[in-house]
Amino acid sequence: MDSKTLREKYLQFFKERNHVIIPSASIFPENDPTVLFTTAGMHPLQVYFTGEPHPSGKRITNSQKCIRTRDIDEVGDPTHLTFFEMLGNWSLGDYFKEEAISMSWEFLTSPDWLGIDPDRLSVTVFEGDKDAPRDEESAAIWRKMGIPDDRIYFLPREDNWWGPAGSTGPCGPDTEMFFDTGKNPCSKTCRPGCHCGKYFEIWNDVFMSYNKLADGSFGKLAQHNVDTGMGIERTIAVLNGATTIHEIDTIQPINDRIKRFAKIMTEPTEEQRKSINIIADHIRSATFILGDDKNVSPSNLGQGYVLRRFIRGIIRQGNLLNIKQRFLPTLAEIVMSLYSDIYLELERNKNFIMNNLTQEENKFSTTLKRGLKRLGKILDETGTLTGQDAFLLFTSFGFPLEMTLEIAKEKNITIDTQAFQEEFAHHKDLSRKATSGTFKSGLSDHTEKTTRLHTATHLLQQALRDVLGNHVEQKGSNITPERTRFDFTHSEKLSPSEIEKVEQLVNKKIKEGLAVTSEILTPKEAKASGALGFFEDKYQTKVSVYSVGNFSKEICTGPHVKNTKEIGTFTIQKQKNIGTGLMRIRAKIEP
Ligand code: ALA
Repeated sequence: MDSKTLREKYLQFFKERNHVIIPSASIFPENDPTVLFTTAGMHPLQVYFTGEPHPSGKRITNSQKCIRTRDIDEVGDPTHLTFFEMLGNWSLGDYFKEEAISMSWEFLTSPDWLGIDPDRLSVTVFEGDKDAPRDEESAAIWRKMGIPDDRIYFLPREDNWWGPAGSTGPCGPDTEMFFDTGKNPCSKTCRPGCHCGKYFEIWNDVFMSYNKLADGSFGKLAQHNVDTGMGIERTIAVLNGATTIHEIDTIQPINDRIKRFAKIMTEPTEEQRKSINIIADHIRSATFILGDDKNVSPSNLGQGYVLRRFIRGIIRQGNLLNIKQRFLPTLAEIVMSLYSDIYLELERNKNFIMNNLTQEENKFSTTLKRGLKRLGKILDETGTLTGQDAFLLFTSFGFPLEMTLEIAKEKNITIDTQAFQEEFAHHKDLSRKATSGTFKSGLSDHTEKTTRLHTATHLLQQALRDVLGNHVEQKGSNITPERTRFDFTHSEKLSPSEIEKVEQLVNKKIKEGLAVTSEILTPKEAKASGALGFFEDKYQTKVSVYSVGNFSKEICTGPHVKNTKEIGTFTIQKQKNIGTGLMRIRAKIEP
């Protein structure tokens, strides 16, 4: 089976069971300033687990583009990837364990769908602990499906609990489905969850009914939700009996082209294979990052830094494979040809992808050689590498610190780890600070205070438009319980009297006790109704529009207060000119 067929079958299966197919959300989380990339299908949906209505209803399904960088150092081995697609189906306060498990079982085993031999499937369920009970209910449902007791494993929280995606929020016990490759067990204790290669997890059903709170305790959500995730690459590899994830249909064509660039005609050596795997993985991630509508370019900060690390990693691996010509845009075209019919934004951002790859490749291909020379010289002279050396390689030759560490490791060089760590900490601190500035939008949490500030931010946008003019448009926001930060198009600082007018108008609307209401519209209807917001075609279905009385109307995912009276007194604390035509306002509310 190929990836396209699996994706189509999955979405069709859930569509037939009344799920609405929604497009993949951005690869950059919009409502979670704590994480750089969307790491699972549930990530963009978290707000709906707490009761906020989803514009497409209570049953949804999609294929989400995801990036996980946690295991980036393992990429190159047979199982790890940084970019992957996750298929998922969600119940937002609708069905729960019984229906979720029986649909999973049917999709996996029915000859009409995947037709996997039931004898090759095992499952795990949560064994229980002080915070949540043993999941006997899921085990009983699996027995009903026909899975014998000796293939139902009760495992602890590390294995069978999922979420929250950040430090607090929706989470719950899960039940995971494993495919038995038929290999011999590695030991007597070999079981699903063992990493020897006998069992592969192919699907995870999470029963999201808990809410992790800031003090570490677990509350209950007001509704039962289901969040599931099936990684396409891994499932395709398993179903086709591949021994490595790099042999699947959405990766193999990239590998073939890399081999041609590297003039590898025979079976690659182990080292070559590792380089090929890294290049293929990183070009997929780089293409999807550049191909997102947010238009993030390589930089030394946050998401841009990770992108730079991917691209420069590819160039170094290409150098190890002795590739002489520029090769990144050609590989990116292959990635695009594999995915453009599903992720339409890739085609839309084609020029952006190509221009950025070309520029970054031109820039780094020249400094790489000089940097490697310099590194060789340092090693010849001193036999070691200090943190300062690494920093010099970073600032003068553009070597991401992780790359220098990698090279040192490959050469078995003893390094002054402490100095390295210090440089790292310093660097990470810089990038963390900058990252918090690069987030385009988002609520840090859904506490009462943040929610009040969120509604106040809608009032602020409208007030700015009323006072300064309709050229004012939101370019980003970042809201924490302490303050809201709002970026908008306007070319100069506000005068003291303009600030006063905006504050007064917001506070007037708060005092008027305006009701906040929401409605679900098509993007066309939303636009016609005068709602502010983005009308990109990523909203293919429906959108939520929030109105504050007759004063403000915006496309938004919530949450908001019910009445502006709940907000408190609004004060603008600071303003700053943050670049050509962009202003930033920081504001707070007090009870
Ligand atoms: N969110 C769950 C996972 O990523 C389904 O495994």
